[in-house]
Amino acid sequence: MRKMPEDKVHKITSVTCTAPVNIAVIKYWGKRDEDLILPINSSLSVTLDQDQLKTTTTAACSRSFKEDRIWLNGKEEDINQPRLQSCLRELRRLARKRRSDGDSSTDVLSYSHKIHICSVNNFPTAAGLASSAAGYACLVYTLSQLLGVEGELSEVARQGSGSACRSMYGGFVQWRMGEQEDGKDSVAEQVEAESHWQELRVLILVVSAERKPVGSTAGMQTSVETSPLLKHRADSLVPGRMEDMINAIRQCDFAAFGELTMKAIVAYTFDAGPNAVIYTLQQHMAEFLQVVMQFFPPETNGGQFLKGLPVSPVTLSEELKSSIGMDPLPKGIRYIISTKPGPGPRLVDDPSLHLLGPDGLPKKTA
Ligand code: DP6
Repeated sequence: MRKMPEDKVHKITSVTCTAPVNIAVIKYWGKRDEDLILPINSSLSVTLDQDQLKTTTTAACSRSFKEDRIWLNGKEEDINQPRLQSCLRELRRLARKRRSDGDSSTDVLSYSHKIHICSVNNFPTAAGLASSAAGYACLVYTLSQLLGVEGELSEVARQGSGSACRSMYGGFVQWRMGEQEDGKDSVAEQVEAESHWQELRVLILVVSAERKPVGSTAGMQTSVETSPLLKHRADSLVPGRMEDMINAIRQCDFAAFGELTMKAIVAYTFDAGPNAVIYTLQQHMAEFLQVVMQFFPPETNGGQFLKGLPVSPVTLSEELKSSIGMDPLPKGIRYIISTKPGPGPRLVDDPSLHLLGPDGLPKKTA
């Protein structure tokens, strides 16, 4: 009798999910525990709509897989990175625990099979656009679906990248720094859902999509080691600001929200990269965008300048133009992503969207 190839004999179980980017308005900056990723301050962010920015991840398991493997944006990466290993180990432990607690609804022993993971972003990686947040949130959410793990998972996502714990929820999300040494109380929590503040808009001014020279992890280590002000911020300023920011969001008070992020009609913030993230209200979008385009004229031969939610053009008054008093800087901004608050991670139902093929390897398009 002809022997079947191994991958035909053993079933491959695949799950695909997507997860959002989040942009903090009260930043996490500095760790008190590098291994468990425990922060020195609480933080708060807005989860962005996945229609514009998302990570998509497929995870598959099969008895025929010889080892765990991962492909990121088309390239195979080292699965032994400690942070990836923390997430995998923790989810397998939770799956085993669930099974030994008597839950037989999950695929038999799937946690003992090797896993293949394939992940892509639809936005620039590592350019201060919180790619590690969406990436680890998506990894943890997808693996939890594959292994049948439920419950509080932001604590696991946090061990991949601190800010990833906030991408496990939609809308307005706080990450409580927690007090325990084991990090069990250092978790994310939704403050309000994305539908709560309908008028809030977010513009990302992309000046560079290059990989940044110093990552957040190293940047925060240097700050913790060298800045006495950082400790003052964490201990004395952030607790009050968290409370004020939560009130501002609950009351949809843009003046207070903007002032806490910074003082202006629109509120801007930078993550650890060169791209500015602007928070504003729907009614100011058209005029603000026109001002940006007046002073940073788009490249005429470049691709689309405004991506995402459409904004209708308006004419600026001469008075407004002259009051800004700045010479135009052509090509200063490469493109703009226009978006709004959005929901947390989701399961993709359509199997044709899996990034891994029936052989368990990335499809050509992944
Ligand atoms: C500026 O979460 O990327 O975006 O925990 O070392 O992976 P690690 O750092 P990361 O840092 C994010 C820093 C920030 C601020 C924020 O998102 O709160």
